[in-house]
Amino acid sequence: MADISEIKPHELVPIRQAVLRQGLPVEASIFDGDYAEHTAHFGAFENNQLIGCASLVANQTTRLEGQTNSMMQLRGMAVLPEYRSKGVGAQLLRAAEKHARSIGIDTLWFNARIRAVIFYERNGYLKVGAPYEIEGVGTHYFMFKKLIPYA
Ligand SMILES: CC(C)(COP(=O)(O)OP(=O)(O)OC[C@H]1O[C@@H](n2cnc3c(N)ncnc32)[C@H](O)[C@@H]1OP(=O)(O)O)[C@@H](O)C(=O)NCCC(=O)NCCS
Repeated sequence: MADISEIKPHELVPIRQAVLRQGLPVEASIFDGDYAEHTAHFGAFENNQLIGCASLVANQTTRLEGQTNSMMQLRGMAVLPEYRSKGVGAQLLRAAEKHARSIGIDTLWFNARIRAVIFYERNGYLKVGAPYEIEGVGTHYFMFKKLIPYA
């Protein structure tokens, strides 16, 4: 089990660079909304080393119109290769979902890389519609999850 905590935007740049934006300048690892008011960033730590990250941004999508009262976008989900398949990604998702519920968000959505779709499906996310290309990043599916409110 990794330790999950909220982190500052600049802290996750090295992980994004290593996993999501390899070979690109550092600016490519700073995303729109990173410093926005409601954005939250989560880090996974093992032996005090940051090994994974995920972010929640208050972005809206028309694809869920009429189906949600309050949504956020999950962005920048990444775990360093040597720490994968140990449940760290799932822990980061749970932390993001818990935070979202705590501020009244009922739905999370995102553009999922095709290779990560199975990972998200195993964690209760649904893919909708046809795949599409995001320039420079590859083929993606739109995915979302309705968060079950706490009883
Ligand atoms: C997707 C990712 C965050 C999952 O992290 P993780 O800590 O390995 O997640 P978990 O241990 O909870 O789940 C493991 C599952 O993730 C999937 N997975 C493993 N490696 C993967 C990879 N390189 N890319 C996508 N999914 C992967 C597999 O389904 C794996 O199941 P398995 O261990 O039974 O094979 C991580 O693999 C990663 O950083 N991938 C590259 C970046 C990426 O694709 N991010 C998502 C952008 S939408």
